[in-house]
Amino acid sequence: MASLTIRKLDDAIKSHLRLRSASNGRSVEEEVRVILRDYCEGRPATAAPAPTAAPAQSERPTAPQAVHGEARVTLIIGGGIAAYKALDLIRRLKERHIDVRCVLTRAAQQFVTPLAASALSHQRVHTDLFDAGSEFDAGHIRLARECDLIVVAPATADLMAKMAQGHADDLASAILLATNRPILLAPAMNPLMWNNAATRRNVLQLRRDGVAMTGPNAGEMAEAGEAGVGRMSEPTEIAAAAIDMLRPPKPRPLAGKHVLITAGPTHEPIDPVRYIANRSSGKQGFAIAAAAQAAGADVTLVSGPVGLRDPAGVTVIRVESARDMLDQVEAALPADIAIFAAAVADWRVASEGAQKLKKTTAGMPQLALVENPDILATISRLKDERPPLVIGFAAETEHLIDNAKAKIARKGCDWILANDVSPATGVMGGDRNTVHLLTRKGKDIDVDSWPVMTKEQVADKLVAAIAKALEESS
Ligand code: C5P
Repeated sequence: MASLTIRKLDDAIKSHLRLRSASNGRSVEEEVRVILRDYCEGRPATAAPAPTAAPAQSERPTAPQAVHGEARVTLIIGGGIAAYKALDLIRRLKERHIDVRCVLTRAAQQFVTPLAASALSHQRVHTDLFDAGSEFDAGHIRLARECDLIVVAPATADLMAKMAQGHADDLASAILLATNRPILLAPAMNPLMWNNAATRRNVLQLRRDGVAMTGPNAGEMAEAGEAGVGRMSEPTEIAAAAIDMLRPPKPRPLAGKHVLITAGPTHEPIDPVRYIANRSSGKQGFAIAAAAQAAGADVTLVSGPVGLRDPAGVTVIRVESARDMLDQVEAALPADIAIFAAAVADWRVASEGAQKLKKTTAGMPQLALVENPDILATISRLKDERPPLVIGFAAETEHLIDNAKAKIARKGCDWILANDVSPATGVMGGDRNTVHLLTRKGKDIDVDSWPVMTKEQVADKLVAAIAKALEESS
């Protein structure tokens, strides 16, 4: 049977085929096969769809589905010393069952060879915008669209500048301009280039355009004696970021809800250098803040003094004393859900010494204590701004459930998470927790006992319970 060479077809037919295949996201050969199959099966020929403008980058799908069950990545390797790590990235992506098609810029080929990228990816490697073997069917459009994600590693200062400006004078930049797929950049450059005002502007522009980035990390540079921010993320980090972007979007059951959380201990001053404190680490409250944020909530975390990093995307307000904590909680209202995980000191000294208390021969100082405001009870009893769901904690060392039940009534909250904090449990400051969720149902209180879990798992389970309750109440 005679073979058909698309290149030899009439120019008008070729241009029609190019337009049609690009619009359908197929290669010209695939498009011809579809047309012939439709003809043989008696289906009416479909007209070439009108070319549609690529959506703005901010409209890009953030988590596309892999096609045919296997995710496909177009990996653009830029020209920098970190290009050698891109070869390892190919392996990391492939061991995660991701199909990788590589594009090497001209500069990248000074650092790694197309042969190495091809051997690792098991695919033809693309280097040239005007490659007759691939451009006869608009190869750059296929590389831009026949994938679920475009990864640029290393993303050089020059490549990022071109992207920010919309240049398309080589294969890599043409793909990046022609795509409607999400883009992940792994920047790598000298720290002075990264901090240069021009790069800062380009980074800002690219972020506004919806381009995701991983790194750069801080560390030593290839240039002898230089260190700073500019090292490309490690291949495993880039692969993890790519996997995150390839996953279907996570459900966001708390989207549109303001969640207010307290965490950590409070410090109650005795004098300018001493204070009353407790052993709370803040880990459980911080984990709940992170879980609520991941579930789409707008989260305000009012925390006493702890050594934990702010969870990403959470508004964190650091306070010292119970009174400061109450002030900040009240200022953060209104909230849809309030979770009081802080171990607030019950008492403070009646009058704080203006100067450091001195040892005297007259004997020990007598510290008179007064009660601190009960933040949970105060917020639970608000008339106008009471959050619809108020959750407290009951940290007990004996009669856990009975004490927790009494606490729901005494404080006026809706739910309580009760946990045994006897020293033998290691809960205070530890990473695990065994909790019981008590929920008020009219006059009754349901008790749901959870198995021992990490504090992150407790946080996820609590957020899931909140999401379920919201769904049931709507
Ligand atoms: O009374 P108790 O300290 O056991 O109550 C624990 C619960 O009350 C926790 O949710 C804690 O955050 C909250 N609480 C508070 N203000 C206080 C004392 C406790 O919000 N002054």
